[in-house]
Amino acid sequence: MLRYCLNKGAEIVIEKDDIIALFGPQLGMIKDDLIREKVIKAWSLGIKRGKWESIEELEKMPFTLLTNTHGINFIEHTIAVTEGAIGLAVAQMETYRSMPYEIDMDRLVAGGLLHDVGKLLEIEFDGEEWRKSRSGKCARHPISGAILAAEVGLPEEYINTIGCHAKEGNGRPQVIETVLIHQADFATFDPLVMKSKDMLIE
Ligand SMILES: [Fe+2]
Repeated sequence: MLRYCLNKGAEIVIEKDDIIALFGPQLGMIKDDLIREKVIKAWSLGIKRGKWESIEELEKMPFTLLTNTHGINFIEHTIAVTEGAIGLAVAQMETYRSMPYEIDMDRLVAGGLLHDVGKLLEIEFDGEEWRKSRSGKCARHPISGAILAAEVGLPEEYINTIGCHAKEGNGRPQVIETVLIHQADFATFDPLVMKSKDMLIE
């Protein structure tokens, strides 16, 4: 079994199998073995660079520092956005008699799982609270995530799904999968911002 040593010490605390356990159903939807392996590698690299020591830490990490997440963590957010983007794609593919563009499901699922992988470098816990790291101040997660994806050898279209999924992609060319991931991402983010501003009618 391939083992990734991600800890600062000798003990191996986060392995490849742990990442597979987190995202098993979504990883299983990626048909291309090499792409699936690179998605796992990008997560492993982000975990290593961010010096994350346990899955429990990742499950405590808020998915954003920009608003109150009401306990929705980074892993939950990643899965919800990936599944949301899949839902947007399937709704069109199953409804339209003729698709005006082709949706690449491997690219969509991989992009969903990786769209925020840069947050492994952007967010840290200082012992008391979650904060933006020095790395995060230097480069927001779409940039650091795109770099991680490039380092593991993912194709440029996949890098577009990461680098252009947030405001960095506004007004920029995007593959269709980036558009769907962006919409799924903001469908999970905007309601929380609205709730915090008392603009969500409940
Ligand atoms: Fe996100």
